[in-house]
Amino acid sequence: MTPVPRGEPALLAISDVHTAFEENRAVVDAIRPGHPGDWLIVAGDVAERAADVEATLALLADRFAHVVWTPGNHELWTPPGDPCALRGEERYRHLVAVCRRLGVSTPEDPYPVWTGPGGPATVAPLFVLYDYSFRRDGIASKEAALELARENGVVCTDEVYLHPEPFASADAWCRDRLERTRERLAGLDPAAPPVLVNHFPLVREPTRILRYPDFALWCGTEETADWHVRYGAAAVVYGHLHIPRTTWHDGVRFEEVSLGYPREWRTRASGPARPRQILPAPAPLG
Ligand SMILES: [Fe+2]
Ligand SMILES: [Fe+2]
Repeated sequence: MTPVPRGEPALLAISDVHTAFEENRAVVDAIRPGHPGDWLIVAGDVAERAADVEATLALLADRFAHVVWTPGNHELWTPPGDPCALRGEERYRHLVAVCRRLGVSTPEDPYPVWTGPGGPATVAPLFVLYDYSFRRDGIASKEAALELARENGVVCTDEVYLHPEPFASADAWCRDRLERTRERLAGLDPAAPPVLVNHFPLVREPTRILRYPDFALWCGTEETADWHVRYGAAAVVYGHLHIPRTTWHDGVRFEEVSLGYPREWRTRASGPARPRQILPAPAPLG
């Protein structure tokens, strides 16, 4: 896992490290920067228990010059048995406070600017959740879509453990987050194009290859479909799908940087995913 030392610093990204799994903890334990100036983006789904999220981010913050975090759905769960019983927005705010103590940037902080190779770029961690709008064609409402998903045997565990309080629903929380985030993004410096970081994909296309199409309901919102163009993104980083790959949308590079569950990465010939280089943009293969 130790990367080949590089002569220059890089902006790296990983997500979905799910460190409640011992095998994933071993993978994370082995992550080292390739240059003392490397930054690491951690795009959500670190763990479920608040103490596990903190321990993982503390370890990475100790090794990298800077760490940027945005929450995944798993950080927002209130799992049974967690001494931290906070729910919804309160839980999120608690994790933001934990990050601030560790010196880790969150969606609530000024966006840090990467001035290393490939920069300047504004590293913008976003938290915009999902609103059940990634529906099958012809399904008009959230309610009808959830009903169909249930009939097909697909219900995301978020429906049990992710409590959107004080909002009435995840989609209401998502609307609030969209509004706050649009305000932040309106103030971006055009001289430092953003690397948009969100746990959920900002566009729907990457969800088209999900094994269970109904799961897309819990994967994003149509409201962000043009953000990569609107805000002139240098790149977009996301996770959640556990399908690590690079895709291009309107000429913008989208990087799905998940590690995923041990049962998923164990079967890959390439082994567990390593932090992906975001900037400087890697040279195209071939
Ligand atoms: Fe995940
Ligand atoms: Fe996720």
